[in-house]
Amino acid sequence: MQTINQLDSLRRNIRALRQAKRRIALVPTMGALHDGHMTLVHAAQAHADAVVVSIFVNPTQFGPNEDLDAYPRTMARDTEMLRAAGVDILWAPDADAVYPAGFATKVHVDGPSRGYCGGDRPGHFDGVALVVAKLFNQVQPDVALFGEKDFQQLAVIRQMARDLDFALDILGVPIVRDADGLALSSRNAYLTADERVAALALPQALGRAADKIRAGTDVGHTLAQAIKDVLAAGFARVDYFTLADAVTLEELHAFDGRPTRLLAAAKIGKTRLIDNLAV
Ligand code: PAF
Repeated sequence: MQTINQLDSLRRNIRALRQAKRRIALVPTMGALHDGHMTLVHAAQAHADAVVVSIFVNPTQFGPNEDLDAYPRTMARDTEMLRAAGVDILWAPDADAVYPAGFATKVHVDGPSRGYCGGDRPGHFDGVALVVAKLFNQVQPDVALFGEKDFQQLAVIRQMARDLDFALDILGVPIVRDADGLALSSRNAYLTADERVAALALPQALGRAADKIRAGTDVGHTLAQAIKDVLAAGFARVDYFTLADAVTLEELHAFDGRPTRLLAAAKIGKTRLIDNLAV
């Protein structure tokens, strides 16, 4: 595996892969890799001949009240995990390879970025869209893979790729869960032992709600009950627990058979967890 920090070197390597007619996959990450990321890497290997993983803690997707400096940085460990997995290129750009002095461009994707985490974290998806657009241009992949865990992020990136004619496939990879059902997340590390047990209420409430909605139970009633269950389990707050169109993320008040997704975010102790489930 080659670790590359400079854009001219990345370009030379990408050109060589292209000349060798290799299909290139990109897995964008902010590092602090866990099994969820490695599932993306393995899926990328199944869809391409060469896999590029990017690690860049992107400042533009952090709000003024979010602590960019506290974001976990585990580059040595991440590098070893990617090398052991047989990744071809680790693209770990220096900050000025992404945002050089004088950088002045913004990307705003309307539609799916409205509400949910977009409402709670203003500007977050603008920063995600901007850095992902840059990574697409830098790496020029044939396919890029993102976890369905961040379902709104995936919807925003799909919308951006459609709108801006990025010629690549965007692949959503299903959520990886612990054996008991909790979705893997770097944030699970912040949970106390009691919170870790109580946190299971979130995927369980999603599962029950999906079953009820499929069976024809009233959507409003089902969601209200799910929120009650999550709070009763010990969550401090539910930011949203919603049924949404799986493409536009428009909120739905009835299940009409189109592809839909239950989306949820809730805070337990100091940790905000997100999860989602197809209905
Ligand atoms: O999901 C993430 O880790 C980040 O939002 C991404 C897509 C790498 C952009 O910085």
